[in-house]
Amino acid sequence: MRNASSLLTVAFSLAVAGLAVTPALAQDATPAADVSQSSQAAPKFQTIASADSPGNILHVDVMLSGDGNLSYQISRHGQVIVNPSRLGLILANAPKFDRYFALENAGTTSHDDTWEQPWGERRFTRNHYNELRVNVVQKVWDNRRMTVVFRMYDDGLGFRYEFPDQPQLHKLEIMDELTEFAIADPATAWWDVAGEWNREEYLYNKTPLNEVSEAQTPMTIRTNKGLYISFHEAALVDYAAYWLRRVDGQRLKTRLAPSAMGAPVVRDAPFPTPWRTMQITDSAAALYNGSDLILNLNEPNKLGDVSWVKPYKYVGIWWGMHLNKWTWEAGPRHGATTKNTEDYIDFAAKNGFRGVLVEGWNKGWEDWFGKGYNFSFTESYPDFDLAAISAYGLKKGVHLVGHNETSGNVSVYEPQMEAGFAQYEKYGVDSVKTGYVADAGGARVRAADGSIRYTFNDSQEMVRHYLLNVQTAAKYHIAIDTHEPIKDTGLRRTYPNWVSREGQRGMEYNAWGDPQNPPEHEANLVFTRMLSGPMDFTPGVLSLQGQGKPIPSTQAKQLALYVVLYSPIQMAADLPENYAKYPKPFQFIKDVPVDWDQSIALNGEPGDFATIVRKDRHSDNWYLGAVTDETERSVAVPLTFLDPGRNYKAQIYRDGPNAGMEGDARFDIVIEEKTVTAGDTLTLRMAPGGGEAIRFVAQKKK
Ligand code: NOJ
Ligand code: CA
Repeated sequence: MRNASSLLTVAFSLAVAGLAVTPALAQDATPAADVSQSSQAAPKFQTIASADSPGNILHVDVMLSGDGNLSYQISRHGQVIVNPSRLGLILANAPKFDRYFALENAGTTSHDDTWEQPWGERRFTRNHYNELRVNVVQKVWDNRRMTVVFRMYDDGLGFRYEFPDQPQLHKLEIMDELTEFAIADPATAWWDVAGEWNREEYLYNKTPLNEVSEAQTPMTIRTNKGLYISFHEAALVDYAAYWLRRVDGQRLKTRLAPSAMGAPVVRDAPFPTPWRTMQITDSAAALYNGSDLILNLNEPNKLGDVSWVKPYKYVGIWWGMHLNKWTWEAGPRHGATTKNTEDYIDFAAKNGFRGVLVEGWNKGWEDWFGKGYNFSFTESYPDFDLAAISAYGLKKGVHLVGHNETSGNVSVYEPQMEAGFAQYEKYGVDSVKTGYVADAGGARVRAADGSIRYTFNDSQEMVRHYLLNVQTAAKYHIAIDTHEPIKDTGLRRTYPNWVSREGQRGMEYNAWGDPQNPPEHEANLVFTRMLSGPMDFTPGVLSLQGQGKPIPSTQAKQLALYVVLYSPIQMAADLPENYAKYPKPFQFIKDVPVDWDQSIALNGEPGDFATIVRKDRHSDNWYLGAVTDETERSVAVPLTFLDPGRNYKAQIYRDGPNAGMEGDARFDIVIEEKTVTAGDTLTLRMAPGGGEAIRFVAQKKK
């Protein structure tokens, strides 16, 4: 850390030196640069503190206006991109943090270091920012204090509120935040609705920004000047998630998810809020490449040695249930039998998969949907012998992947959680998939008085539960893959056993239909949901067949998804007998790694297409995945990412000349080999609903 006061412009010179200035009521704040927008009639904004990003690309002004209302404004290369936007909170137990603010002092520091990810899209991450801390006081409310902190990166920023413990405000009951994002230029938005019954599993909309209602984050926009902005949050801990509500025009506002207990957030000071984030870049690909913002804003690893967290590929007793071939509950079509599991273990061992997921092994699946009152997290159905099966697997180097479906019934799960993890650890199960299948507002938690409360999975009480689950699992050296999760806010940096999650529509929608995922879905995910972190999408359905409905994808696209949609655990979702039918494309699924040294988005547009390349962490090989929507597309890819002066054998899996997203055309795949170097350019031609996957095998250096 070094002091970077030169980077700071502050209205009060004393504040520049980091010294306290006399608390001033807003009315007597010294006017500085008048940056009020001519189009806005009333408020005059006075800048009280500002800071630049390290490369002077982004700039923030923190301002007072009117009755000492606090706001901020963001410029990029001198152009205002976020108009003055309000800051503050509404409390239930005290007056609002919305006006009568005065500057107490402000100062900046710089930070630049590089840290190593235990697993991830890239091995090393640089964390380079300037931090501006603005301490404000509300003299009229007993000198109540609050700090607003901005971290300015060249490709984005985060800001949060910090509350000191103060006698006049120890407990905060936060009704809502006033945090706004008033976007200056007209923009197009890619967004999915928040707060509705199907939680975070809605199809993406593409609309003008001024037609957004209330969106989940990450939400991505493109302004008419070609800037891409992604809104999200980082380090969501013991707080409610926010939904992004459009107030009017292009003005968005955070809305805290409701709580079943009272105010959406109840906390004792001191504490910080999560970071409110904006990634701001001039291409969609740069948004993806800069996504470490979310990780960087999280605390470093708190678990110490995490060598027990293993990236892996897995198969499982799963797709068969979604095809309605097997059942979760015991009975004539029970999927999780000892015999079936041992067959899967044989298949995994033969094909090099470390994991076998087994759903429906434990008692309580009769009438589970949205209920989950009868789930046991330790007792197996009689036709599933956990001890024998796990021993059988471990002999062959295959680990069971545990499964804790809760139906969102946390009140039943939490009292059994430790016992469930302890039993799993005893049998060598080192990762568990959890599930919270309940409609929004249908999660059940126990209140302090013992009563059951019904709540959203975005609520403070559920945010607490999801993290408690991960922390408890860590005690038993178990990694967690959360389905129906709280949104990912980068906590995998702090808790590296939180390896993956769902949090948008995965492959299962292609089994159920009504509607399936459209061909543009994955190109939407890359530039929205995937900016938050890994997704357990479960790709690789080479049979391209759901329950009675064909899947509108080519086989080559199914392969590409392993590279395009990052997760350190990746499923080969199809049935073993289907892989037996397609041994050649299956080879790519066997070869593709899940842990990376480097990841680069080469091109793409939300909802249209994306090309991503990644370098294996354990070899010199590179992998490419490209996907398109329903439009046939050719994309030129210069191979400049490869090591210069080295030959690579490119194993290409591409859409055939007659490929398409219907009927037999889906199975038209060309598999070929070519020798290439960094000087070559490949043209990827993708069929409607198609894609391409390439493995670049490094040859001996010349
Ligand atoms: C929903 C999950 O996304 C899915 O993968 C799982 O099979 C079911 N819940 C049952 O737990
Ligand atoms: Ca799901």
